[in-house]
Amino acid sequence: MPTAQRESVVEATLLERISDARRRSDALFEIVQPEAMYDRPIPERHRIIFYVGHLEAFDWNLLRENVFGLRSFHPEFDRLFAFGIDPVGGGLPTDRPSDWPSLHVVREYVRKIRNSLDEKLRSNTGGQRDGFVLDTLLNVAIEHRLMHAETLAYMLHQLPLGRKIPPAAFSPALASPITHSMIKIPAGTAQLGLTRDGGLFGWDNEFEAHTTQVPAFEIDRYMVTNGQFLEFLQDGGYERGELWGNADYEWKSAGDISCPVFWRQQDGAWLYRTMFDEIPLPWEWPAYVSHAEASAYARWAGKALPTEEQWQRAAYGSPDETKRLHPWGNEAPSPNRGNFDFESWHPVSVNAHPHGSSAFGVEGMLGNGWEWTSTVFGPFPGFEPFPFYRGYSADFFDGKHFVMKGGSARTAACMLRPTFRNWFQPHYQYVYAGFRCVNV
Ligand code: AVJ
Ligand code: FE
Repeated sequence: MPTAQRESVVEATLLERISDARRRSDALFEIVQPEAMYDRPIPERHRIIFYVGHLEAFDWNLLRENVFGLRSFHPEFDRLFAFGIDPVGGGLPTDRPSDWPSLHVVREYVRKIRNSLDEKLRSNTGGQRDGFVLDTLLNVAIEHRLMHAETLAYMLHQLPLGRKIPPAAFSPALASPITHSMIKIPAGTAQLGLTRDGGLFGWDNEFEAHTTQVPAFEIDRYMVTNGQFLEFLQDGGYERGELWGNADYEWKSAGDISCPVFWRQQDGAWLYRTMFDEIPLPWEWPAYVSHAEASAYARWAGKALPTEEQWQRAAYGSPDETKRLHPWGNEAPSPNRGNFDFESWHPVSVNAHPHGSSAFGVEGMLGNGWEWTSTVFGPFPGFEPFPFYRGYSADFFDGKHFVMKGGSARTAACMLRPTFRNWFQPHYQYVYAGFRCVNV
């Protein structure tokens, strides 16, 4: 039977995943001091209060009428909280705290939505919207919330330390020495995308499945570390125009950017701004930088960023062309395979997870920081936007966003699937994203 006509009932596991995801997002707002809820930690983004309403408004707008036949009780909020801001060029938002409803009123809106949706979900009768079964829509709601659990962490990272409530104290694990090297990946295939009839959930940009032939290349065994990035910086990397693309150099100069946003120099020493603290720069952690900074480093090193296809082959390919679900094989993600699924607020050394190595011996491909590619975000052949969310990916097929692969410490396990594609614009420094290089 075609999926679209399947009688859909809400599985218990989906209901559990919804509650888990809600617990995740609720927990994140708990680290914000109450008086900081109307702060705007990143100038280009909404105030924190927006996101309290957004996560529920999104689910509500997706499921309310077409699936459950429920009436809106607050159309103004449904619109106010519908969409975030993607900061591409343009001006900064100018709204004031007083333009937003009180926290109490927003929390009441959230509570009402959860109650209405849960009542319907518990009654276990499925509906559909635009021919998509309820399971797909619930996966969209769950992953949307979990993605925000990650991007909100980037945002709260920028909130001044005094505006946050730190959990337990943290001291970085001791790192074992790193010997950087490059790994030869022989010519072969990269498997990209999902098939529509495979029954697996994926976002619109993950379809269709296709195979590409990738010529032989060499790729860094580890992600580029803070220590390596410091060498670039100390070699004048930020000032040398020839290392930067024109638009990148303009961006860097206009913003007076001379180091990664997570770094700060004090009395000649480099400090690293973690979520709840400032510590001496951890040399062995991956360097979290914008695409522009990553590209400049790669040029300085005489290398390049990998294409999406190269990255995919290095992570999921194998010498005998057998398929694997994860770089390490088919076992489910677990903490000894990588730093992901909200295990930590922090990165770890790039060599901390030898048990997560790919078939070719490339380490740390999943977790510990997304990895920038040189591939401009665009549709795979056979792309169709989700009819219930046409702009999710298509609004960003503008040639101004780059594909990121892998995942960070704050990426949920469900999004560690091979086909998941993330993207950001090249001048956004706040993402938990680093990179590794390939030989040119
Ligand atoms: C896929 C992470 C780039 O945060 O801009 C959340 C996800 N889209 N709400 C983003 C998203 C709408 C998106 N990324
Ligand atoms: Fe959103």
